[in-house]
Amino acid sequence: MEPQFWHEKWQMQQIGFHQPQVNPLLIRFWSELNLVPMSKIFVPLCGKSLDMCYLAELGHQVQGCELSQTAIEQFFNDNQLPFQVQQHTQHQFYAADQIQLIQGDIFALAPSVTADIGGFYDRAALIAWPEEMRQQYAQTLAKLIPADISGLLITLDYPQDTLKGPPFAVSPDWIEQYLSPYFEVTLLACEDVLADNPRFVNKQVPWLNEAAYKLTRKKVI
Ligand SMILES: C[S@@+](CC[C@H](N)C(=O)[O-])C[C@H]1O[C@@H](n2cnc3c(N)ncnc32)[C@H](O)[C@@H]1O
Repeated sequence: MEPQFWHEKWQMQQIGFHQPQVNPLLIRFWSELNLVPMSKIFVPLCGKSLDMCYLAELGHQVQGCELSQTAIEQFFNDNQLPFQVQQHTQHQFYAADQIQLIQGDIFALAPSVTADIGGFYDRAALIAWPEEMRQQYAQTLAKLIPADISGLLITLDYPQDTLKGPPFAVSPDWIEQYLSPYFEVTLLACEDVLADNPRFVNKQVPWLNEAAYKLTRKKVI
């Protein structure tokens, strides 16, 4: 989706993707990644997700990237976190104690910014992209994640012709084709969550699978 689409969503507060609680799959699988305690976790397309608070409470430093200034300011204000802002070339860096949110386009982020991360977390980021932009996002993610670093990826899959995204359907075959060249991929769980998603039920989507994957960046050849 183009930046304008997301800016409008945030402006109108049409943010159905935002969860009022920490994602259950994050709670369930995070420890399986065996990440270095206190390490820095990169959260692409972070929105104002409470999952970042969860990661910080585990002791991690959190580094999010988000296009919308509104989302970032709401995150810090909602969570009563005083923050400071610094302007870098194409991005603004918002910093509170353990949480740094980088406002701007992920496609313009330099790999040096994420060079010291110890993990990453993608919920509703990969699936935010339509097919034609998703491959570009996968390549960008691969550029930003250093070798041997692991992360948790949460996806949705459903018959794409039954509903207009976002979220867009991402199948295990897509993951195999476009992420496996860069990442070791381990499927951790895949469950039908249709009954919990009225928007999909109302549109008569026949099935809706939510999956969690562990991704580990392969060595760059
Ligand atoms: C579907 S939302 C998911 C937000 C968050 N991960 C969550 O779970 O609530 C996608 C987010 O990506 C942001 N976004 C879209 N394009 C972006 C880009 N090029 N760079 C950085 N953020 C972007 C949008 O503003 C939006 O907040």
